[in-house]
Amino acid sequence: MRRTAEAPAEEPRTVSGHDRPPDRATTVEVVGVGHAFGALAVIDRLDLGVGAGEVVGLVGPSGCGKSTLLELVAGLLEPDGGSVRVGGQGAAPERLARCAYMPQRDLLLPWLSAIDNAALGPRNRGASRADARRAAAPLFERFGLGGFERSRPSELSGGMRQRVAFLRTLLAGKPVLLLDEPFASLDAITRAEMQEWLAAAIAAQARSVLMVSHDVEEVLYLCDRVVVLSPRPARAVAELRAPAPRARPRDETVAATDFGAVRERALRALREGAR
Ligand SMILES: Nc1ncnc2c1ncn2[C@@H]1O[C@H](COP(=O)(O)OP(=O)(O)O)[C@@H](O)[C@H]1O
Ligand SMILES: [Mg+2]
Repeated sequence: MRRTAEAPAEEPRTVSGHDRPPDRATTVEVVGVGHAFGALAVIDRLDLGVGAGEVVGLVGPSGCGKSTLLELVAGLLEPDGGSVRVGGQGAAPERLARCAYMPQRDLLLPWLSAIDNAALGPRNRGASRADARRAAAPLFERFGLGGFERSRPSELSGGMRQRVAFLRTLLAGKPVLLLDEPFASLDAITRAEMQEWLAAAIAAQARSVLMVSHDVEEVLYLCDRVVVLSPRPARAVAELRAPAPRARPRDETVAATDFGAVRERALRALREGAR
């Protein structure tokens, strides 16, 4: 992958799977991938890797192919060219088995309560309904959903549904998380809280994460590395290493001078990629 000239090696390095030998069980490898929907070329010879325990952000203009890329990794789509492997496995069912995918729309099951939606992963792994709910309950409190366990998705706000969908993804118990704009419909305060919580959750239990966002600040705060995509068909036009170890208080991180400098580089790469 081409790197921006402005991302020198002496930048402070974050805790990153990038520096460790890859763990086959938790690694995403996208090599020379192309994809089109009919005549519409959406992804063009894209290379991307996510190391074990690494958190990688994807930013790019609307409609450039970010969601398509997550679906390719998740095994919901097959690439027209190139290869996609997760944990060393290329077959779609093997990719699906290793990835917990949080789509852009929450896709909660309308007939299940919020807690039963969140607890689908443990249920699918054979837990009793009571045990599955017990696994989800502490997270409900933590995510400001306490008291809404028995509500149906239709009774929840958009932000609450998004949090339930996020919990379902975490509780799926998969080594790779694919998050498509996970905090897009949250208000600013809840969003900042969720970002801090996610940073801590990722630090606590090693998962490999590939996360799409339209918010450069969000991915630079949450991720070890950020890949900037061009307009459709998506190519990787820049790769930036996040300036600070995540899970520091968010405000402190975002206010830091080096954070501002990397954010400017990311924004410039987005603009230049659009030309
Ligand atoms: N199933 C599909 N069939 C046809 N076109 C699609 C399909 N899914 C996405 N597209 C088109 O592919 C392009 C990329 O979509 P998407 O990956 O959702 O972009 P992003 O997530 O970056 O906004 C868009 O032009 C979209 O309309
Ligand atoms: Mg999308």
